[in-house]
Amino acid sequence: MTHGNFVAQPEKYWDRLFAPGGHAAMITSVDKDGRVNAASYATCVRITHKPVQICFTTSQKGDTGRNILETGQFVVNLPQFEREILEKVRVVGLPFAPGVNELEKAGLTALPSSKVKPPRIAECLRHFECDVEWTKQWHNRIMVVGNVLEAWVEESCVDAKGYIVWDRIKPVAFCGAPYVNMFAAGYETMRVGLPYEGPEVTDAMRSVESMFEDM
Ligand SMILES: Cc1cc2nc3c(=O)[nH]c(=O)nc-3n(C[C@H](O)[C@H](O)[C@H](O)COP(=O)(O)O)c2cc1C
Repeated sequence: MTHGNFVAQPEKYWDRLFAPGGHAAMITSVDKDGRVNAASYATCVRITHKPVQICFTTSQKGDTGRNILETGQFVVNLPQFEREILEKVRVVGLPFAPGVNELEKAGLTALPSSKVKPPRIAECLRHFECDVEWTKQWHNRIMVVGNVLEAWVEESCVDAKGYIVWDRIKPVAFCGAPYVNMFAAGYETMRVGLPYEGPEVTDAMRSVESMFEDM
């Protein structure tokens, strides 16, 4: 079906069209005996500002979901758009047996966390230590929402106001299983105006821009 310049996509391509999905991430967890697990995720999104909360979805059958339901803790480790670490992201995403430490399999380095038991990954430039706010199980999935308890960044990768240095951080999206081995990134940032003068644009709204510039 077409409508003007638009073409309706067949349902089998809807997930391909919604790209990027979320930030590519490696999520570390531990089982009830303290054994470390890591898995890769495409569905990782920061969903609230205050408190800062992060969500992702995982399988009900996997180690990550089971560990998180058992321990209530996880760490989100964000890789950068560089071949070496993205290859490791793919290794970490392989279906290793329960109890296998994927960090060792991928040649990644565990760093102790400060607030939770799962370790951080030294090769990632940003780490978010989380505890579980809520989970929901549906179909064969688990949705996990976590509160960030501590957040870390490699020191040269943020400015004095906490904004990331984009070409150091190199944020990377993975757009889900149909994209197989294809990661995505864009480094350009642009501040844009709000060319509208109606009552919907309040002084408060205008002041938000300057507020964030002063923070
Ligand atoms: C780049 C990448 C992104 C992935 N994203 C997801 C995802 O968002 N959700 C998911 O359930 N599995 C995702 N996977 C697959 C899991 O990483 C994989 O099933 C892994 O074996 C689960 O490990 P676990 O059993 O240790 O939890 C992804 C894999 C890769 C390589």
